[in-house]
Amino acid sequence: MATIAIVSRKGGSGKSTLATSLASYLARRNDSVTLGDLDHQQSMRVWLSRRPSAAPRIVGWVGDSGGLTRPLIGTQHLVLDTPGGLHGLGLAKVVMVADAILLPVAGSVFDRESASDCWNELRTHPRIVSGRCRVAALGMRLDGRTGASEIIEDWAASVGLPYVGALRAAQVYVRAVENGISIFDMPEAVTQVDRSQWLPILDWIEPVFSEGRGTDAPAKRTWAAARVIPLRPASHTSALPAAPGPTSNPDAMGDLGTRSGSLWSRWLPAFLKRSR
Ligand SMILES: Nc1ncnc2c1ncn2[C@@H]1O[C@H](COP(=O)(O)OP(=O)(O)OP(=O)(O)O)[C@@H](O)[C@H]1O
Ligand SMILES: [Mg+2]
Repeated sequence: MATIAIVSRKGGSGKSTLATSLASYLARRNDSVTLGDLDHQQSMRVWLSRRPSAAPRIVGWVGDSGGLTRPLIGTQHLVLDTPGGLHGLGLAKVVMVADAILLPVAGSVFDRESASDCWNELRTHPRIVSGRCRVAALGMRLDGRTGASEIIEDWAASVGLPYVGALRAAQVYVRAVENGISIFDMPEAVTQVDRSQWLPILDWIEPVFSEGRGTDAPAKRTWAAARVIPLRPASHTSALPAAPGPTSNPDAMGDLGTRSGSLWSRWLPAFLKRSR
């Protein structure tokens, strides 16, 4: 089993949204996925309870406070959502089980400072020093008009942290979470811009899942170099799993404003009705 943990000390940095997206991406590939929750807010339980039965299955798991044991024999992937403020023993327990850690960083200097503190602690752990647990930052909930992605990329380079890209602020994430789904459960036509921003992030994560957990063997394929992701539509989404529903001309959907709004409002009620 391969484990990826989403860690950020800053509350509201997008950890849970990231965890649900990643879990549903893996589930849509027909992999067996467990979504673990170490946060007493139990956001993953809330999201799973809203998940339509037609959506690919994801198993929930709640971490116990006594210790982080590896759950669920038989699951291929564990995606671990963690609480804000994680440090010390709590953080060490996560590092002990994680094969990779993603650190979402939002656009303000407070977010970067908090992430620096977290990274300074993380980089002292032997599993991270040795590369058995890989860590990367990604920009989260960024406004594409502000150059925030470049600022975070520069910051990441200055603290020696791989930077794997950025996800823009988009209502589609908020709406997806409301409905127990993610952008990967939605039609490509509605989510093309956002899917394109996931591509380099998935490139970085993929070796973790394909290599499996806990081996010191060298990676079968080169760990993807960190890349900057422009916060604008990319030209293809071919590496992503097939999404359900209408897939009209994707090139016509570069602007997620009015057109995707109407597509969404047509698609979502139909999807939820099908799942009842
Ligand atoms: N890419 C995004 N675009 C727009 N809104 C987003 C995005 N990602 C997250 N959000 C919103 O930001 C808020 C915080 O997100 P989320 O709950 O995922 O953060 P968190 O780090 O898990 O928070 P906490 O520390 O409280 O557990 C939520 O309202 C969520 O809907
Ligand atoms: Mg959360």
